[in-house]
Amino acid sequence: MRRIGIWSWLVIVTGLSVLGACDQKNPLDIFADSTKDCAEMLLQRDIQKVAKTREQRFLGKVPEATARCLGGKRAGSLREGPWLDWPNYWAAGDATSQAPAQLLAHAKVLGPNAQGINGAIYELELQRIELIKFNLFDNNKTYEAYVTGRDGEAGPVLKTWPEMRLPRSHPDFKAVGGDRTQVCRRELIRFRTLTGICNDIRNPLMGSTHQLFARNVEFNTTFPDLGLNETTRNRHGDRLGLLKPDPQIISRKLFTRAQSQPDRCHEGYGLPGGAKEAECEYQKAPFFNVLAAFWIQFMTHDWFAHLEEGHNRPEWMAVGCATQLVKNVEQQLMGDDVKKLGCRPDDKIDAAIIAEGTEPGSFTQGGKSYLTRAPKTTANHITAWWDASQLYGYDERSGKRVKRDPKDQAKLLLMPVREGTSGGDKLGYLPVFEPGDPINPEWSGQEATAFPDNWSIGLSFYHNVFAREHNAFVEEFRNQATRTPEGDSGLRNPASPDAVIRYRDVTPNELFEIARLVVAAEIAKIHTIEWTPQLLYDEPLNRGMNANWQGVFEKQEVVADALKEVVRRLDDSEDAKKANSLYAALAGGPGIFGLGNHVYEEVPLVGLIDPGKQDRWDLKNDDHINGGVNHFGSPFNFPEEFITVYRLHPLLPDLIEYREWNQEPNVIRQKVPVVETFRGKATESMRQKGLANWALSMGRQRLGLLTLQNHPQFLQNLKMNRLQSPTQQIDVAALDLIRDRERGVPRYNEFRRQYGLKQLTSFDDFVDTRVPKDSSARRDQEQRVKTLREVYGQHQCDESKKITEAQLNDDKSPINDCLGHPNGSLIDNIEDVDTVVGWLAEFRRPHGFAISETQFVVFILNASRRLFSDRFFTSSFRPEFYSTLGVEWVMHNGPGQEMMEQGMPNGHKQQVSPMKRVLLRTMPELAGELQGVVNAFDPWARDRGEYYSLDWKPRPEAKGDEAFTIKK
Ligand code: HEM
Repeated sequence: MRRIGIWSWLVIVTGLSVLGACDQKNPLDIFADSTKDCAEMLLQRDIQKVAKTREQRFLGKVPEATARCLGGKRAGSLREGPWLDWPNYWAAGDATSQAPAQLLAHAKVLGPNAQGINGAIYELELQRIELIKFNLFDNNKTYEAYVTGRDGEAGPVLKTWPEMRLPRSHPDFKAVGGDRTQVCRRELIRFRTLTGICNDIRNPLMGSTHQLFARNVEFNTTFPDLGLNETTRNRHGDRLGLLKPDPQIISRKLFTRAQSQPDRCHEGYGLPGGAKEAECEYQKAPFFNVLAAFWIQFMTHDWFAHLEEGHNRPEWMAVGCATQLVKNVEQQLMGDDVKKLGCRPDDKIDAAIIAEGTEPGSFTQGGKSYLTRAPKTTANHITAWWDASQLYGYDERSGKRVKRDPKDQAKLLLMPVREGTSGGDKLGYLPVFEPGDPINPEWSGQEATAFPDNWSIGLSFYHNVFAREHNAFVEEFRNQATRTPEGDSGLRNPASPDAVIRYRDVTPNELFEIARLVVAAEIAKIHTIEWTPQLLYDEPLNRGMNANWQGVFEKQEVVADALKEVVRRLDDSEDAKKANSLYAALAGGPGIFGLGNHVYEEVPLVGLIDPGKQDRWDLKNDDHINGGVNHFGSPFNFPEEFITVYRLHPLLPDLIEYREWNQEPNVIRQKVPVVETFRGKATESMRQKGLANWALSMGRQRLGLLTLQNHPQFLQNLKMNRLQSPTQQIDVAALDLIRDRERGVPRYNEFRRQYGLKQLTSFDDFVDTRVPKDSSARRDQEQRVKTLREVYGQHQCDESKKITEAQLNDDKSPINDCLGHPNGSLIDNIEDVDTVVGWLAEFRRPHGFAISETQFVVFILNASRRLFSDRFFTSSFRPEFYSTLGVEWVMHNGPGQEMMEQGMPNGHKQQVSPMKRVLLRTMPELAGELQGVVNAFDPWARDRGEYYSLDWKPRPEAKGDEAFTIKK
């Protein structure tokens, strides 16, 4: 019999202590009920374990007793439907989700609130481990070894792959060992390389430019449009195609932002001169600002690109606006329909680049047949590493676009282009591309940087900010070198590891590369502990993300217990060998960042931190340099499905509410159309108005909710000169669907089943039943569900058709075409819904989530993997590579000692956030404005109120801000 673990005991103890844990009036009833639920949960051993097989995995649903134990009656009553249960637990929402203030209710380690948060974190960790276990499918020909193993080793514990060797044609082939065992050494491992090779010293090619995207779903579920197997044909019949259902129809009916005064919006192009009277209505998220929208575009330009230098395949194809379903029958669109809908039949786009389109091989294991890769593959045309490649480059051509300061080669070139008196302007602005620079013609006039595509004011903003940050680090390093030229910088050269490198010895080129390492790590930190906790604004996620970064074991014992318990259960599992690498990665304790950057005798490489032990980490030891990375048996690259959930175009407003920091920031002076800042116009606007004013404007404005009927109008009507079509326009919202179809992303319901989420059985499941029936919000949702039904249609179901291998029904029978409805009945074509449409339609979300739960599972897996796999965030996060100053800069969010925020935001002591520090350094004139800001991505004038409030109320100094008086 299984031993009851620490966490279970904790549940018992807290369960017995829940004097206040309830939504009933009499505390004694509460005591009796809650204790009974928790005891029942334990008796039934309902604490979920890590699944052994795909069909047994945790689907985010718990038994009623568990839900009631962790969240009271309310959580028990909200279990209906496919959605995750943990968001209903105690303290997982705003103040109203906390248990009534009675005995122990607010205790940090005991009591219902701790119990609710703990329960949520436990389930999230369980999901993450199962995602690692069941959702890794590499396209680079390593998948067969993952399934069958190699030389007696199980696939999931393999650490090197022949497919990740440099080919003979590679200029560094010889340097890494040629035909012998390849290991990167010396100059190749010192800094991040331009093309991303040698991050993992034993898998030189991994994550480098032009490697193939991976998948998170079984290969035979990809490319459903092609109907390659019976299950897929059963699932979709003949209802799917590249333009079926018509993507422009979907865009116009399901994505368009309704305008009550279209003449003031002009399809997102606003009014001449940025007139303030312009208005493009959009649904807004009260807790997330426009800076956050552009931040994520800035990130995606670091992680992945399907396009090569802003282009696809030179083959121009139609993009819909041709047919629509009328009462489940496809009909051609008539002229009047086209006019009414506003779509464009003459638009054309260049087809997606496909890397391999030949039939994939197959193999069998345990009587089951597998494909070796997806039926088609595509390549990532930039490095997959979080290496700030959008700033510094990812191949020779992009590297040439990066301009260094001729007076100090360690710095990026910044020019004094504004007469401004403010501190920030003196730090300068990026130069503009010059004739002869290797660029596309449409990029001329833009600031010079490695990744110039789809440039607008938001990207101009971040590229300028981080160029200033790069130079700020260089400046500080030089100051230190002036103070102590003979001092040990902490750096070492792997070519002569014992030689101390003094400050005075560091060359400008070396310092440039060190600054790149520091900037990339800062960006990863900002994203992990500042952007994401605001995107997922609740306590379980705040703890989870901080745990990812800096570990949980010392500071938050309770979280640690939850995590340890999941890991213990994993270790108990029969396939302990396979589980081993997961165990090693998760049992250590110091989070992912810095994993393996200390090594102690007699404990595993990634073992527990014990302050009494002496650190043996050694630059001469390959296992120390590389020992912290974990790929879980599958070489790292992003999966195609990751790009799908980052199609976040609804975040963008059409118009930016422009303000000025030194002239009454509460006043909106102009409404600048984002599209009027497209490409080179961004550079002009940046120089004319200045970085600090743009920071203030985008910092105060709310971004768009990720929901249906909320795409920016300017993106549906984007003009691009490169397009070879009569309209020279494209509907980017429709293109989002087309690209996913070209790249074979499974449709929404199978996508969810593949990721271990419950399927939907009709469009009605999208409606959030917590919203009052007679409210306008509920009516809106129901109206959108009607439109979904109209657009995707219905069919008569056939229960003899099995539609998936990924999950079973509750009674263990196969899931069939009828999804639980009577055979032959007319059911919704929920299986056909494009994944982007599906996740936008999820009206029910965990508290404070700007994204849906479907997007969220994709992040849980891939956001941690891009840290786990990167040597520079794990075992090589060391002074030998970063310098002592560099390590401190990343840890303390800048030079000097840690700075602490005043008060206890949401109940936590907190460092002044990393992005706020960057803003303060690069735009010191914003010090006053930023004083009340705790998270740079929360609208700056919002009063954060108490415990994860989402209210839209001004802080005292911003009472006059017009944004709080606007109706919508
Ligand atoms: C002014 C702002 C923006 C413009 C003009 C823009 C434009 C575009 C265009 C034209 C494409 C299609 C490329 C193609 O497949 O041919 C695209 C793709 C994409 N956009 Fe945007 N976008 C903007 C902002 C954003 C933002 C804020 C995000 C948020 C993450 C985003 C995420 C993406 C993603 C993930 C893709 C797919 C990239 C790929 O296939 O590798 N974009 N965008």
